[in-house]
Amino acid sequence: MKRRDFLVKSAYSAIALTFSACGRSQEMKHDMSGMESKGGMSGMGHMASEQLADLDALPKGQDLKALPLLVNQSTQADAFKATLRAAPMQVELIKGKPTTFWTYNQSAAPLLMELTEGMSVEIELVNDLPQPTTIHWHGLPVPPEEDGAPHDAVPPNGRRTYRFTLPEDCAGTYWFHPHPHKVTHEQVFRGLAGVIVVRPKNKAADPLSALPETHLVVTDLKLNADGSIAENNMMDDMNGREGQFLLVNGQYQPNVNLSGATRVRLWNATSARFLNLVKQNSTGQIDNIVQVGTDGGLLSKAQTSSKLLVGPAERVELLLSSAKDEKFSLIASSYNQGKMGMASPTPATTIVSVEQSAGEFKIPALRKIEALGAAVATQKVVLGEAMSMAGGVHSMLFLINNKQYDMNRIDFTSKKGQVEEWIVENNSDMDHPFHIHGGQYQLVRREGFDSNKTATTEYEPAWKDTVNIKARERIVLKMVQQYAGLRMVHCHILEHEDAGMMANLQVRG
Ligand code: C2O
Ligand code: CU
Ligand code: CU
Repeated sequence: MKRRDFLVKSAYSAIALTFSACGRSQEMKHDMSGMESKGGMSGMGHMASEQLADLDALPKGQDLKALPLLVNQSTQADAFKATLRAAPMQVELIKGKPTTFWTYNQSAAPLLMELTEGMSVEIELVNDLPQPTTIHWHGLPVPPEEDGAPHDAVPPNGRRTYRFTLPEDCAGTYWFHPHPHKVTHEQVFRGLAGVIVVRPKNKAADPLSALPETHLVVTDLKLNADGSIAENNMMDDMNGREGQFLLVNGQYQPNVNLSGATRVRLWNATSARFLNLVKQNSTGQIDNIVQVGTDGGLLSKAQTSSKLLVGPAERVELLLSSAKDEKFSLIASSYNQGKMGMASPTPATTIVSVEQSAGEFKIPALRKIEALGAAVATQKVVLGEAMSMAGGVHSMLFLINNKQYDMNRIDFTSKKGQVEEWIVENNSDMDHPFHIHGGQYQLVRREGFDSNKTATTEYEPAWKDTVNIKARERIVLKMVQQYAGLRMVHCHILEHEDAGMMANLQVRG
């Protein structure tokens, strides 16, 4: 049976399938006494019975709100101290039908942490969720014990303090999210995620520091008509969850006013949505997008393109400017990531509508980035999928080097401080955004193989922590792990990560 037929057939044997696809979250739910009802059990047949809210259920076109700041409680210079309390929170998005989100500090919009290189950071996590949780500092070079791995989960009613000191030269655009075993996707789709901007200690190191800055945090909301957050169905578990609402700073298709040339940081904080960014002006034309930064900060020089793919977990910095007053939209144009089960590709959606006043800015050389030297070791990773009939039910397995994630198995070993080359091959039929914990890496090359004979692309050195890999594509990257300890590598489609497309990397001292 071919993959597609298998999956289509599967989709119609609804009940058994839904059980298998939701097995892991159902299992969690059984453990959770006292948890508020959220349609989980009645969601058993949700393949068939899913009743999503209409697109006009949420207002759009409101002015974009700035992100709420996580306030620094420290009185010392070079120190940042705060508490993040993860807890349920009710928000009335649909009148009379409150939605229960899980949020940090009762903020429905993602919180912004503003840090500076060299700062010592102390964050207390208070877990008032009905599940264990952690905080993972996505992309930041923090010690493994402080990085919120699934092995160090904080139980319900527990708390712990994360402590780390930011090194020099890590200015960039990061984020934080929970990383507990098997329920990361659920905690993120219920609302848990926040963002981090790290600024250089020396302002002169940032040639764009004089520009006004706008932050766009893109998240995805799949909302039921009754106001509850939808459970994942089998398609979500296979293809990654996409909601009907793309939110920006917690708002649906807001309006953004920019005065003059502006630096825009955009986070893809969705579970699985590929943002195939285009800038469409009011006459329907596509203008070029000018990218100045990526996950780990500024590029060496600006790059111009008509389309910019920002995969799950990736970040970009854009420079938006125009010679005259202008109106345009940032759109996530449709993107085909090779979804299974005859699911249609992600449709185009507006992210934000923008009104910008005239103001030009000549972009200087941005930054000097040295290429990492010759690699002294090589890691080989194959991302794969397989069909399973375990327990008499069809399901998809998501694998790294043919294995599902096991918390207690070491899959890769490397040595602190040495340049290593990672060859990562996507031997499956859909895209997988590949992430390594511990800091930033450099993408060196991308090439197609087998049925996908694309030309090789070589990359200028830039700092990334997540790179999308298309089906039958291979990337080569270089990375240095700065601390000894346990790290994770995984696909950042959160459903795939939780289903086992993740591996442990032991870094030796
Ligand atoms: Cu953003 Cu292992 O995660
Ligand atoms: Cu991470
Ligand atoms: Cu994946």
